[in-house]
Amino acid sequence: EKGWKDILPVKELEAQWVTRVQFGARKLALYDTPSGIYASLALCNHGGADLCDGYFDGHVIECPLHQGAFDVRDGKPVCAPATRMMKTFETRVENGMVQIMM
Ligand code: FES
Repeated sequence: EKGWKDILPVKELEAQWVTRVQFGARKLALYDTPSGIYASLALCNHGGADLCDGYFDGHVIECPLHQGAFDVRDGKPVCAPATRMMKTFETRVENGMVQIMM
């Protein structure tokens, strides 16, 4: 059933960086940015690399395998060879927890 799910205490987020989270069977990436917290599936849709091992700068996550990149705010691919939208999730903070709509 779709709804807000507790994912991680806010204080466990890596500041201005990407944080790896396992949620059930899903690998997720949480991004702490100047404009808020964003979330996506952790595995790159180009070749399956774990974006949590990539380089994060501002709002852009760069994949560690082929250096494709995505804007974490909307999932848009911003650098080849990434060409498809990254799956993102709506997030919010409630009672000190990062929550994701999923
Ligand atoms: Fe991420 Fe290729 S696996 S760009």
